[in-house]
Amino acid sequence: MALPDLAVTNLILPETPHAVDLLCRKGHVLGVSPHAPGTAYENARVIDGRGLTLLPGLTDAHAHLREPGQEWKEDIASGLAAAAAGGFSNVMCMANTSPVNDTASITEHMTKRAAETWPGGPRLFPIGALTRGLLGKELAPMAELAQAGCVAFSNDGRPVADAELFRHAMEYAWDLGLRVIDHCEEPTMSPGAGMNEGRVSSRLGLPGQPDVAEAIQVARDVLLADYLRIPVHLAHVSCRRSVEIIERAKARGVPVTAETCPHYLHFTEAEVEGYNTLAKVSPPLRTRDDVLALIQALREGVIDILATDHAPHAAHEKETPFGEAPCGISGLETALSLSFVLTDKGMLDAADIVRLFSSNPARLFKLPHNTFTPGDPADFVLFDPRQAWKVTPESLFSKGKNTPCLGRTLTGRVMALYIGGQPVFTRGECAPAATAAASRRTHGRSS
Ligand code: DOR
Repeated sequence: MALPDLAVTNLILPETPHAVDLLCRKGHVLGVSPHAPGTAYENARVIDGRGLTLLPGLTDAHAHLREPGQEWKEDIASGLAAAAAGGFSNVMCMANTSPVNDTASITEHMTKRAAETWPGGPRLFPIGALTRGLLGKELAPMAELAQAGCVAFSNDGRPVADAELFRHAMEYAWDLGLRVIDHCEEPTMSPGAGMNEGRVSSRLGLPGQPDVAEAIQVARDVLLADYLRIPVHLAHVSCRRSVEIIERAKARGVPVTAETCPHYLHFTEAEVEGYNTLAKVSPPLRTRDDVLALIQALREGVIDILATDHAPHAAHEKETPFGEAPCGISGLETALSLSFVLTDKGMLDAADIVRLFSSNPARLFKLPHNTFTPGDPADFVLFDPRQAWKVTPESLFSKGKNTPCLGRTLTGRVMALYIGGQPVFTRGECAPAATAAASRRTHGRSS
């Protein structure tokens, strides 16, 4: 057997009863073996994993990185820094940039910026616009976008009202071997309300959006997927009504897949009390009953993946009256902590999180990923499930500090991310000095 050039020792691997050593060679996994104290891995760089949890690099199938055009909110360099700090080796970025990613030159600009700023990863995979300018009037040049490197198509942020156009988008995408990611909100029902219609919206006197606005479009597009026998992927599912439709459709063999986000598993409409614009998001935070339905759907495979819907906005944009604030939650850096909280409550286990945030999204969108099988890319996260950290503006690498977690203490933190066997992010004492210094140089601070 080939000898490792990198060995990370004394790690906890979910569903493995004993400590393990991860052995890598030339950027790929060689194997995972039981940890035996004192084993010398000659000629290898040996890192003491000191009981940290070993996870594969994560894939985020839904992030808004704002470049080009809104770099005061985020840019590709800061977005990928946030991704690295969150444990993501792959990031798919949405098309609602300015200009919109509806031409090959914008796609190429995105991938070029990623290669310039984070040459060793996180890898960036642009999502092409479904319609030109996201205006919902005519299809974007989907073949050109696929050729330029887009891995999916979406009108995220601007749901498509025209069912015939959406049907053609699904057909063209499938001909190109890609799938459509569907933002489901019936556009005439309180677009952009950012808050659930219910008791809290009535008390606050805010216009709310009912859950049925999401479910109506989920039903429409599930029917299209059934009729066409072409897959559709439903973005950021937020409510029980949608889950029930997806569950019935899957039981009948309809090719539908779905995602939800950590914020829908933790927060409810109550978070908006006090006109809290940090909890304004589209689709909105719902009720406790919806939270429970989503968690059960994740456990049972009705919802296939977790995604962050990382949507950074500047502080001055959120510090406005509720109705004027943009929708969105900055999510890349809190995603894994929020997901692991559910393991403490016994609602998900670590293996579910690996499936939902790594293997399933990577398989769905055909991205490189690590299942710790020999030959896989050595993309891995060292995670400390016990480390408590306070979410402050300074603790986040993203320019977007807009999260309801702000000021709260979370438990569980990414200590390091390796991509292709190289450390691209390290924190604290886990940091090989050179990488920590480079990270500070690039991002202006350590955390
Ligand atoms: O809350 C949201 N913000 N939902 C979206 O679909 C778009 C996103 C954004 O781009 O800010």
